[in-house]
Formats: sequence, C-alpha cells, structure tokens
Amino acid sequence: MTPRSLPVLDFTPPTAGPAGPRTPPDPADGRLDEFRPEPRALPSFFVWTLGCQMNRSDSEEMAGRLLAAGCAEAPSMESAGLIVINTCAIREAAEAKVIGRQGHLRRLKDANPALRVVLTGCSVRESNRAGLARRYPAVDLFLRPDEEPELVDRLGLASAQAPVGAVAATAATTLVKGDPVSDATHLVRARADAVAGGAVSRGSAISAWLPIIYGCDKTCTYCIVPFSRGPERSRPFDEIVDEARALAAAGYREVTLLGQNVNSYGHDLAPEERFGHIDTERTVGRRQDRTARPDLAELIRAIDAVRADDGGPAIPRLRFVTSHPWDLSDRLVEAMRDCPSVCEALHLPVQSGSDTMLRRMGRQYTVAHYRERLERIREAVPGISLSTDVIVGFCGETEAEYAATLELLRAVRFDQVFAAAYSERPGTPATRLADDVPPAEKRRRLVELLAVQEAIGLDRNRAWLGRTAEVLVDAVVPPRAHDHDDEEEAAGTATARDAFRDLPEGTVHLVGRSRENKLVHLAGAPSLLGRLVDVVVEHAGPYALRGRLA
Ligand code: SAH
Ligand code: SF4
Ligand code: F3S
Repeated sequence: MTPRSLPVLDFTPPTAGPAGPRTPPDPADGRLDEFRPEPRALPSFFVWTLGCQMNRSDSEEMAGRLLAAGCAEAPSMESAGLIVINTCAIREAAEAKVIGRQGHLRRLKDANPALRVVLTGCSVRESNRAGLARRYPAVDLFLRPDEEPELVDRLGLASAQAPVGAVAATAATTLVKGDPVSDATHLVRARADAVAGGAVSRGSAISAWLPIIYGCDKTCTYCIVPFSRGPERSRPFDEIVDEARALAAAGYREVTLLGQNVNSYGHDLAPEERFGHIDTERTVGRRQDRTARPDLAELIRAIDAVRADDGGPAIPRLRFVTSHPWDLSDRLVEAMRDCPSVCEALHLPVQSGSDTMLRRMGRQYTVAHYRERLERIREAVPGISLSTDVIVGFCGETEAEYAATLELLRAVRFDQVFAAAYSERPGTPATRLADDVPPAEKRRRLVELLAVQEAIGLDRNRAWLGRTAEVLVDAVVPPRAHDHDDEEEAAGTATARDAFRDLPEGTVHLVGRSRENKLVHLAGAPSLLGRLVDVVVEHAGPYALRGRLA
C-alpha cells in the first residue's frame, strides 16, 4: 500500500537570502494614502448646564466622555460644533430659559449647518418625548438623564456611524404608576466606568462633586425630580471611598457628596456582615429596614478616615447635599460631630412652616420633627450654619399657613434660605390640586419672605465680625468696573470689587468659602488659590463676608 501523500503547499523560500526584520512603511509615503481611514472631523463641544449640583456633576461626566472621544472643548456656544444643553425642570422659569434660546440656536445652525444640538437633563422625560421637538425646535437629539452615558455613542463619535438626530428606541425604563421614567440602575456602572477610564472632566481642581446616590424615591407632590431621575440607586460603598481617595491623591481640598437625598444612601444595597452594627430604621415616613446596609454616616466616617501623612483628613473638607428630614438619623448627627473633615454646615430643606402644607406637599414630617432634628444638630455641632429651601404659594396656601413659614424662619434663624414661588410641573401629583394662589400674591409672599430672611442673614453674618474664618480660596475675581449682574450684586461681589479696587502690589481680589459655607472676599497673592487660609472678618453683608488675611 502506497502511503497516502497529503497535498501540501509547496513553499519555496525566497532565494534572495534570509528574511530580515520587516521595515515599517514610511508614514509620509504618498502611496499609502488610499489605505488611510477617512479623517473624521470631531466637533468641538460646549456644555450649557442649568440646575443643581447633580447636573453640574453629570456635565463633568459628559464633557469627560467627549474629551476621551477626542473632541475639544469650545470656549463658547457660538464657536462650538456640538452644543449639549443639560436642562433643569424644577420650575417653569428654568425651562423657559432654554426655550427662549431656541431662536439663537436656530440662527447658529443656519450659519453653521454642521452644528448639532443635544438636549438632556431633567426636561427630557419619556412621558413628554412627543412634545419635545415642538418645544425645542433647534435640538437634534434628546437624551433622558439616564441616557447621558450614551451621548458619545449616540452621536456616532465613538465608533459606528449612527446618525445624529435619530432618537433610538428607548432603553428599558421604570414605570411609576404606569408612566415610564428614567432608570437610574445603570448609572452606577456608567459612573464607575467613567471614573476608571478617566472620563470625568472636573470643573475645579480644588473642590470636587462626588455622586453617591442617583434618583429620588420621595413623593413630594410638587416635584418633577422623581419623574426625571427615576428611583434611588446607591453607588457601592467601596467605589465611593476609592473615588474619594483618588481625589485626595489628586490634591482636592474639598469633596461634596451628591444626591437628591443623600440621607437615604445605602438602603437599596445588599446587607453585608461588616455593616452588621447598623440597624437604624426611619422614625418618620414610610418604614424602611436598613439593617446591615451602609448609610451616609458610615460613608462619611470612612472618607474622613482616609488620612494624610500628618494624620489629618486627606480631604480637609467634606460636605453633602441634599438632606431630607425623613432620613436625618442620629447616626449621621454623631458622625458629623465626630469627623473633623465634615464642614459645620447643613442644608436641610423644610419647604413650609405649616403642618397642613407639609401634608399637602407629601413631605412626611411635621414642623416639630424638623425642629427637633435641628436642635439635635445644633447641640452636636455648635455654631453649625443652617440653610434651607422654601416654597411659597403652594396649592391652597392660606395667609396663616404662609405666616407660619415666616415664623419658622424667625425662630430658626437660618444662615441662608433658598425660596421660590410654587410653579406647577406637568405630570406631578400636585396638578390634581388647584394652583390657586394668584401669581401676584405668590410674588408678594416671596419678596416679603426674602426681605425677612435678608435681615436675619445679615445679623448672622455680623456675628462673624472680628472673628477668624478658615477660607478655602477657590477663585480670583477679575477687576471689572461695569457689567455687574444681579447674581453678583446679591453675592456682594460688586461691592467687594469696589473695596478691592486699589490693591497692594502682588495681590488680587480672591474669593472662597468658609467651613460654614459663607462666601468670603479677601485680597491676597494669586498663589493662595486652592489654599486654606485664615481670614479675619472685617465686613459683613447679608450674603457674603469680607476680610483680611490673619
Ligand atoms: N432633593 C432636594 C430638592 C431638590 S429641588 C430636597 O428634597 O430637598 C430643590 C428645591 O426646589 C426644592 O427644595 C424646592 O424648594 C424647590 N422646588 C421643587 N419643586 C418646585 C416647584 N414645583 N415649584 C417651586 N419650587 C420647587
Ligand atoms: Fe423632589 Fe422631594 Fe425628591 Fe427633593 S425629596 S427631589 S423635593 S421629590
Ligand atoms: Fe433641576 Fe433636575 Fe436638579 S430638575 S434641580 S436639574 S435634579
């Protein structure tokens, strides 16, 4: 039997000699042109952010993703090839600002047909998708807050050639009473990826936002946020502590933990043995078993415990916003007392000083409960500065109910109050109540309340005269004799500018915040930017302090 010969490929080695190492082609060789990929012009982008700190933090992540994709940041909306608008829907006025810019955006698009406009943030909800194109005619692509991580892909900037403008079939959404809302579930993973991939472009090298919980499980009847942001989702404990550690290593002096309600952090995480000592339950509102799950108190203790070589906290200032009176536990109050990095400031929105109003607002606590919490905190952290949010003119608010709010402000003496007139939001439970306080009356109540608070704020700030405040210097105020806007007037920047007009050689007008979250103006060397300095307070206005380096 003849052996079967397998067909083999006859491979004759080249006769020209042994094969040497291959020489790489000369990149300048013109013959290679046809093999080169089409150069893709990446648009430069501009992010316009409205609303709260959560939006600012989300915008840092979107900008980071765009930078990672190779896009450059444009200095202005007018010079950008891609405009991302991160909207706020908390009140009609916030949405009107963006609607009012549609004509301007249209003109920019007429001048530059390649310009693309993306609108995201809290104005984009599944339930109002249909009406968005009509309200925002200059926008090409709408993304819900939970779709923001997809921005780069949806623009076709990352890989595929997905067309700009097409709104793809929506991802899985959560239903709240039959209405689809954002689903915050995957945001936790997306954040972890963005942090790991360096795709977070932080707006400051001094203070950083650190999201710890997404969404809101509350049912405040006036509020759109639960519909825009979906249900609460906590980030894993260790991921947050690791991000804080990385921020410390990068030299950040201040970290603010973010969430619509940071006090409910952790309730949705799995129980773990190491958190076995945690057994708090809510004392007001819906019952919630938090046994062996991490909470905000545990988290701030863990971040505070990250220490520098000198034994002090690696991040000297730790803050958190926003707190809800439902979940403000004794454990948190004790952690605030015990942790040297936690700043002596608490923002605790009250909304109204009347129990009947609080019930109608679905706030789940009474004025007495709220005041008891504040007493606890003032006892534990003497000198703590307190701020709050208030709504005037909510459905059915009588003169007496409104007066109860004034009374609360006078009794508590907050350092700062953020007040607004009630603005009906489509789709919220309060649309079933009559929005019956006339606009002029809402305005009157708002103006009066702000005046009452201004006097209290001034008084509280005057208590600082002659005292020394520790200030984290975070900005240089440019000298500008004109163009004072209202916000600057309110913050006392314009007056401070006048006071610092003739500065000694080598100094500039600096601004920063004290641990108590007071805005402090001072003169000093530009090198103080990012430093913690002691300032003797010499002047106090209702919204800001002014002083000199101690
Ligand atoms: N999660 C935070 C608040 C986020 S919204 C909290 O519960 O404290 C910020 C503030 O906007 C609220 O505290 C409230 O005072 C105000 N606000 C919310 N909805 C509003 C509405 N429909 N009209 C007027 N103000 C509103
Ligand atoms: Fe809105 Fe209430 Fe949630 Fe705050 S706690 S975001 S006011 S629903
Ligand atoms: Fe506005 Fe959304 Fe924040 S509605 S206040 S941007 S959570």
